[in-house]
Amino acid sequence: MSGSDAPEPMTARRSGALTGRAHVPGDKSISHRSLILGAMCVGETRVEGLLEGEDVLATAAAMRAFGAEVADSGEGGWSVHGVGVGGFGEPADVIDCGNSGTGARLVMGAMATTPITATFTGDASLRSRPMGRVTEPLADFGARAVGRPGGRLPMTITGAMDPVPVNYTMPVASAQVKSAILLAGLNAPGETVVIEREATRDHTERMLRGFGAGIAVDEEADGRVITLEGHAELRPQVISVPRDPSSAAFPVAAALIVEGSDVLVPNVGINPTRTGFYATLREMGADLTLENEREEGGEPVADIRARFSPELKGIEVPPERAASMIDEYPILSIVSAFAEGRTIMRGVGELRVKECDRIDAMATGLRASGGAVREGEDWWEIEGMGPAGVPGGARVEARLDHRVAMSFLCLGLGAKDAVTVDDAAPIATSFPTFSALMSELGASLDPVKAG
Ligand code: S3P
Repeated sequence: MSGSDAPEPMTARRSGALTGRAHVPGDKSISHRSLILGAMCVGETRVEGLLEGEDVLATAAAMRAFGAEVADSGEGGWSVHGVGVGGFGEPADVIDCGNSGTGARLVMGAMATTPITATFTGDASLRSRPMGRVTEPLADFGARAVGRPGGRLPMTITGAMDPVPVNYTMPVASAQVKSAILLAGLNAPGETVVIEREATRDHTERMLRGFGAGIAVDEEADGRVITLEGHAELRPQVISVPRDPSSAAFPVAAALIVEGSDVLVPNVGINPTRTGFYATLREMGADLTLENEREEGGEPVADIRARFSPELKGIEVPPERAASMIDEYPILSIVSAFAEGRTIMRGVGELRVKECDRIDAMATGLRASGGAVREGEDWWEIEGMGPAGVPGGARVEARLDHRVAMSFLCLGLGAKDAVTVDDAAPIATSFPTFSALMSELGASLDPVKAG
């Protein structure tokens, strides 16, 4: 699992033009959901383009522990023989979700309305993250959870014997919480209703519809109202996973800040609930185009082309855009440091409970690299250094956070002096090919030799 005992430091140095095609891995969110929904129907679901990162492999192992057969058929092709809604068996051992909040929270939801008991744990990062946001609505279905203080893992959940449907208004904008409730609702009688004031990524809704569940989404005055018919019978699917826009963000951002770059990232998911980062970059003046827009397997996809953009301008990112780019703020802070003027990000308190406190991690590393950052509980702002460039020259902490590690390595590619990340191992959770792919484009990335 990520964050193994031996850290793997890596150094990024100012690079020549990044050019070529960047085939980033499959979408992490859709990959988790493919395995979980595949496990919740009887018959074989086939998945092409699955992200074979540690997070998703932990979910594959979890699905096996609950009784599904999950097999790698080679070259990103996977097959899942599911056990049906309500068919999960009791795992013989603890479920280790590694670094993955998505895996932990969605699997908790999927088992919460089946009368079995399972204990969940994860790495030090995941064990520090709040699970009460999921276990509270799951308790409304009749599930019981006992964890460490503050709703932390390890945690044992006993699923409801006689689940009741739930009507839940989300207190936080979280696709993980929404999805946990919907997955639990599959095995409850009647209708489960989730109301979200701010739209979060809607892959679960789209995929549930594809798997044959009765699900309706209504845009109403008080938000998106999602109604799911319980006691669903899901039909196995053939799924083609688009490439991850959150992973594409790294080669795209690097191309914008490294002189002379021109990078194409093909087949990227551009679901509107995920593309706030790209809208923001355009507003900053990035040379960015979406080419070949099309629809594949119920999700919009496109090829994204990014070229060196020396005239980026700092902007105020609209807070209502936060959910659609929640994973991209770390890399946006790096791009902002290369822009002229200030970039302000508000309404982003959720960043403090991701794989680490991402505002603190990025602010600390940026300051060490010569940047100026101001922050409050749910906002931060970066003072751009424009054409003068970012000094760099720091050793920064990744804090078991893949996106923090990749963000600072991108910084090093454009900064005057090299940037070293203390541990690049967590990158394998979502983007195991990151260093090879970036090197192929021309990035100067080197593991630091021990001793
Ligand atoms: C995810 C939702 C987001 C995101 C995470 C993946 C998902 O978390 O940060 O990387 O697949 O549902 P929240 O829903 O908690 O914001």
